[in-house]
Amino acid sequence: MITYTVLHTIHIFSVFIYGGFLFVDILFLSKMKQSLDEDESKKAREAIMIHVRKVVPYSLMVAVASGIYLFMQTFGQIGADGFTYFQTVLSIKAFLGLWLGLRGVNQKLFGIQPWVFKSHFFPFSLVVIIILLSQFMYI
Ligand code: HEM
Repeated sequence: MITYTVLHTIHIFSVFIYGGFLFVDILFLSKMKQSLDEDESKKAREAIMIHVRKVVPYSLMVAVASGIYLFMQTFGQIGADGFTYFQTVLSIKAFLGLWLGLRGVNQKLFGIQPWVFKSHFFPFSLVVIIILLSQFMYI
């Protein structure tokens, strides 16, 4: 039980760092262009991104790895009637999380840029959906 609690806590912290950056980027950093000229906003953004790149991609990888463990502990058996409501919603959440994970690993470890949805708005929207699913999977 302690292992589960520790991995669940690690999952929440890593999601907090990854999702937290996306919220700050989409809601605030993207607005810098309104108060700085093109060159200044580029410089200001890069001054932040050099530190983001050292942490955020790895927090995504930790979120996915810890999520896979949690999934294996909570998914349960598939009954004769097929997936339960919880298993269905958790599977959708896991698929979206794994998609973000694959995208992040490709970018960070293999330098493969996303083919579609290149801006941070896509992972931001997926994180919002994943957080909602993570709460509604228990109703
Ligand atoms: C970036 C991707 C991800 C985000 C933003 C995310 C977010 C979250 C959040 C907010 C919770 C709820 C925590 C709580 O209320 O206690 C959660 C729980 C969970 N996540 Fe993720 N997650 C991600 C990836 C994954 C992946 C890839 C998997 C599985 C393959 C996964 C499996 C789980 C499981 C099983 C739980 C339930 C744990 C529990 O309630 O005991 N997550 N996740």
